[in-house]
Amino acid sequence: MSKNAVLVVGDKKVELPILEGTEGEVAVDISRLRQQTGLITYDPSLGNTGICKSEITFIDGEKGILRYRGIPIEDFTDKPNFVEVAWLLIFGRLPNKSELAEFSALLTDNELLHEGLRHQYQHIPVDAPPMAILSATLSNLACFHQQLLARQDPESLAGAAARLISKVRTIAAFSYRRSQGLPFIYPDPGMRYCANYLHMMFSIPHRQYLVSPEVEDALNLVFILHADHEQNCSTTTVRAVGSAGANLFASCAAGVSALWGPLHGGANVEVVQMLERIHGGGMSAADCVQAAQDKNHPFRLFGFGHRVYKNYDPRAKILKEACDRVLTTLEYSDPLLDIARRLEELALKDPYFIERKLYPNVDFYSGVLLRAMRIPTNMFTVCFAIGRLPGWIAQWKELHEDPQRRILRPRQIYTGRAETRYVRMADRQG
Ligand code: ACO
Repeated sequence: MSKNAVLVVGDKKVELPILEGTEGEVAVDISRLRQQTGLITYDPSLGNTGICKSEITFIDGEKGILRYRGIPIEDFTDKPNFVEVAWLLIFGRLPNKSELAEFSALLTDNELLHEGLRHQYQHIPVDAPPMAILSATLSNLACFHQQLLARQDPESLAGAAARLISKVRTIAAFSYRRSQGLPFIYPDPGMRYCANYLHMMFSIPHRQYLVSPEVEDALNLVFILHADHEQNCSTTTVRAVGSAGANLFASCAAGVSALWGPLHGGANVEVVQMLERIHGGGMSAADCVQAAQDKNHPFRLFGFGHRVYKNYDPRAKILKEACDRVLTTLEYSDPLLDIARRLEELALKDPYFIERKLYPNVDFYSGVLLRAMRIPTNMFTVCFAIGRLPGWIAQWKELHEDPQRRILRPRQIYTGRAETRYVRMADRQG
């Protein structure tokens, strides 16, 4: 392929460099286009725009491929270890034994919340959405760890990352306990990452919740499958906030807010509510598939479709298999799993979905799996956020290491009124 693309604008001809990624993906570099021609590009929602070069995650949406630092996502499913994947994403390679042990110890050292933060829960309404609590509390970490805000050295980054990855479980579990009127359970330094989260969620003072290996593995798997997904909406938000020089806590808190949306991470809640509605007789699976096609109807088939995947989302494939396996092992029968399978079958046969290449995405089966672990529906997107934190941190770190970094600042095509003069109140008509 030629190294330049040629653009002809009137009688002017400009050469635009073509960049090529490791996997052969090509892009036209238009970063000097305005300087050369006065033109900007128009790409609402940035569906066709690369906003950075990244070495973290590779997706081939046509083939249904997802790799972290080059490693296929399927390789992490055998003995899933979320902490190891977090390290891989952030630091760029698999950790050795002592690096992993050191990082795990750092997470343990940082698992408690400052008592000031803990007291804040008393002032939050008991029915507050856990994603609102999560975003606010991650942002609040900046008040309690100010020594990490200004410095940009690797040690401060590692310290802020460890605080976020570790404390997010405590913050999440406390929000659930508050909503249930249950006492907070402090983290147990002897427990592994996922087991500790389940302990804080479900133990009671006189009865420790015993975490089964199947559930611990399944939670590790869920977190791993959500750990990064290149330049999605919440990650782009984290990069945008970070590009202004804002600290890691503030940037990740903004990521949580973006993730909350039902078109993004919030879709896992919508999926289960949709399946429950079908189960309750409110609508049939066929009704859902039909309603999703009606452009005058706000309803969408949640858990279906993706900006990048035009094939089966590999994460959904793994989660579907995990649902079958885990529900059988736990002897947990969930009618919603059968409904989800039926809904998928109907949609995948429907010309609307076939023509548009709409397949199940990560959110379609994750809720059914989380339900089997007794995670309540309003905590699903929080679990997504816990999983996604290492990805946000890795992307934020990469942004700061990029010598070409500039504040993220897109342009627009102004379509409002041409210049018009201010009219004093007394002179206005009507
Ligand atoms: N139900 C019905 N129609 C859909 C759906 C859906 N779930 N998804 C896409 N479409 C339609 C669009 O309306 C569009 O139709 P048109 O060509 O007639 O106008 C066509 O399919 C193509 O849509 P895309 O351009 O591929 O969609 P886009 O990239 O803008 O949006 C999104 C992607 C937001 C994920 C969308 O598929 C959607 O809303 N899905 C449901 C919500 C969901 O599951 N979100 C989670 C995504 S994964 C994640 O964020 C973790």
